[in-house]
Amino acid sequence: MRFTVISRIGIVGIFLCFSGLCIFSLFLSFVSDVRSNDDKYHDMFRGFEEGKCKSCHPSIWREWERSMHAQAWTDEIYQAAAVEIKDRENSCDPCHAPEPILVTGIGKMPQLRNVQRDSGVSCLVCHLDKEGAMHGPPASAETNFHANVTDPLYTSPTKLCATCHGQKSVPEHDQVSSFLDSRYAEEKKSCATCHMPIVHRIQSTASHESIKGRKHTWRGSRSVAQLKSAATVKIAFEGKKATVILQNKAGHLMPGGTLRTIILDVTHLSPDGTQQQNKQVLISEKTANRLKPDEKRTFVFDVNVGDNLTARLRYQLTPETPEDKWVLMAEVDKVVP
Ligand code: HEC
Ligand code: HEC
Ligand code: HEC
Ligand code: HEC
Ligand code: HEC
Repeated sequence: MRFTVISRIGIVGIFLCFSGLCIFSLFLSFVSDVRSNDDKYHDMFRGFEEGKCKSCHPSIWREWERSMHAQAWTDEIYQAAAVEIKDRENSCDPCHAPEPILVTGIGKMPQLRNVQRDSGVSCLVCHLDKEGAMHGPPASAETNFHANVTDPLYTSPTKLCATCHGQKSVPEHDQVSSFLDSRYAEEKKSCATCHMPIVHRIQSTASHESIKGRKHTWRGSRSVAQLKSAATVKIAFEGKKATVILQNKAGHLMPGGTLRTIILDVTHLSPDGTQQQNKQVLISEKTANRLKPDEKRTFVFDVNVGDNLTARLRYQLTPETPEDKWVLMAEVDKVVP
């Protein structure tokens, strides 16, 4: 009988010992999981630095590399403006070299990064979460370098963009508010509709076929094609009046940025070529007359049959850009019928 008691104690002991081990190993795996998530997060920064993102995503990398996002910190125009600001570390730099925004919060004011500032708005800023996973649209392949998380934020990314392009306290850099009040938002379009056009390409070296994605070039006011699509200029006649009609076709205030100026020149000649009138209108934040999405602006001229009217629309990147570098956006030339 003594033997059974001992063996009972033994069984209970083994059981207690076993469950203790279980709890202990659970605890261990929990701790190591937390640690490894942190490791994975830092692995991504290291991977970015060592060219790993570039080697598995060569096409996307090439697109991004030439974009203004890649240059958000090194951009000379930015650096020249930021030098003038006393507390630039708080009021400027956080958006031009930010921590990953999935970590600091979508919609919240970004925070300044202490590492890799030269890479500006890098892949990690838009895609990396605090567990070291990459958020994006539905993926078509897997990799053991990073986890993929499908996130609806990316398929219509206006909220993502608004984290930097729509902070209420930074109206100089707000394209989002005027967009949200426009028909584009009603039609369920997004910032990606015009700035990340659809492309078919290999998304990583793990997949062999081209699949649908969105271009990572973010062409804006430095693209002639983009500027040509930004507005229309028309001339209409009624009796002895000519009306020049300018209409905004961009998805937000035009010009989109506060450094930019749009110049409308109208020249009115009589049939023998003598100049009747030469009107110049400047459109910018400074002159407080930017156009809302779809807004039309009209300018009326008194004319006679056979007169000639020319309207030219040009874009000046910064106040220092000389006239021979202004980009022609639209031009019309008409004889009064
Ligand atoms: C809320 C985020 C945010 C903050 C804060 C911020 N910027 Fe920007 N900055 C942007 C975005 C987004 C753009 C691009 C869109 C635009 O021009 O509005 C930009 C563009 C610029 C440009 C234009 C660069 C070019 O090459 O055309 C300059 C200059 C600039 N910022 C200077 C500053 C200065 C100076 C400060 C501090 C006073 C500052 N920014 C603070 C987000 C920010
Ligand atoms: C060993 C190869 C490899 C490396 C290194 C790599 N990736 Fe990927 N990545 C992939 C593959 C494969 C996919 C899935 C692609 C697809 O959907 O076809 C992917 C998908 C993604 C996605 C989309 C995720 C989703 O769910 O839609 C993002 C964003 C991404 N990678 C960013 C990065 C960044 C940033 C780096 C560098 C830190 C990086 N990748 C390094 C192979 C890699
Ligand atoms: C983390 C902050 C951040 C996020 C998120 C972000 N941007 Fe930007 N973006 C910037 C900054 C900063 C610049 C200005 C870089 C410069 O010129 O110095 C910029 C520049 C641009 C430009 C180029 C402007 C030019 O001068 O040509 C476009 C277009 C643009 N962003 C569109 C987008 C779109 C669309 C999204 C959303 C998919 C987005 N951005 C998300 C910070 C951000
Ligand atoms: C300004 C934010 C931003 C930056 C910077 C950025 N991406 Fe993206 N990325 C997006 C958005 C938005 C999408 C979703 C596009 C869509 O719906 O297909 C996306 C999609 C992707 C995809 C899925 C394939 C595709 O084209 O849709 C991959 C892979 C990816 N990004 C990798 C990268 C890599 C690698 C970098 C750096 C070289 C990078 N991204 C930089 C915003 C960004
Ligand atoms: C219907 C097309 C369209 C949509 C939608 C659109 N944009 Fe634009 N965007 C343009 C055009 C065209 C330009 C160039 C003319 C200009 O400066 O307004 C431009 C210019 C820009 C610039 C450059 C401004 C500068 O100072 O150089 C930024 C930044 C920008 N857009 C961001 C955004 C963001 C963020 C969204 C989403 C809220 C968005 N865009 C939606 C067409 C669009």
